[in-house]
Amino acid sequence: MKSFFSDFDAAYWRERYVAGRDGWDAHGITPPLRAYFDQLDVSQQPRILIPGAGRAYEAEYLHQMGFEHVFVADLAPEPLADLAARAPTFPKEHLLLADFFALPNEQPYDLIVEQTFFCALNPVLRPAYAKQCAALLRPGGTLMGLLFDTDFGPVQEPPFGGSKAEYRAYFAPYFNFRHFETATNSLKPRQGRELFICLKKK
Ligand SMILES: C[S@@+](CC[C@H](N)C(=O)[O-])C[C@H]1O[C@@H](n2cnc3c(N)ncnc32)[C@H](O)[C@@H]1O
Repeated sequence: MKSFFSDFDAAYWRERYVAGRDGWDAHGITPPLRAYFDQLDVSQQPRILIPGAGRAYEAEYLHQMGFEHVFVADLAPEPLADLAARAPTFPKEHLLLADFFALPNEQPYDLIVEQTFFCALNPVLRPAYAKQCAALLRPGGTLMGLLFDTDFGPVQEPPFGGSKAEYRAYFAPYFNFRHFETATNSLKPRQGRELFICLKKK
């Protein structure tokens, strides 16, 4: 019998891309992430990871800004190929066809970007997500992005919702909280339903 978790493996995600069941795709960088990236200092050349990146409009944007150490990880090759086609100069070796939970932490990242990846995971993996983000970041490194602060009802497949109080418990052991509040500049359908987070690894 298939477990609940095995339903959301690479084959599951590939099928969703191939079938066009990709309603999460914003077709461009979202305003909260753009506003955050616009105030970063490109001269610092941080190591940036975007896990569960999908078509990774964030990576394309950062690449255009001149950030040279941007890595994207995804289980599905289709969205990574889409990024490569849209941004032919994006380094191919930075396209990681890999399970986020199996990424090595030999070279820590300065910044991890969250956009509709956390909600795509089986909720039982949420504590492991927080732990793996912390493991992949240098001390003082940043996990930033957006988390749905809404209840999607009794759904059988992603996206899975949640609440601020629930999420806080996952991240508190590893991170100090800089921002953890309702985003003010969300895409219209997500307005009032997502948290902007900016957490610093302890
Ligand atoms: C809901 S989509 C979001 C994609 C993208 N972040 C966006 O906002 O358009 C979730 C993505 O996470 C990927 N994914 C799911 N589980 C993963 C895992 N364990 N490791 C890496 N990627 C994973 C899926 O293939 C899919 O592209």
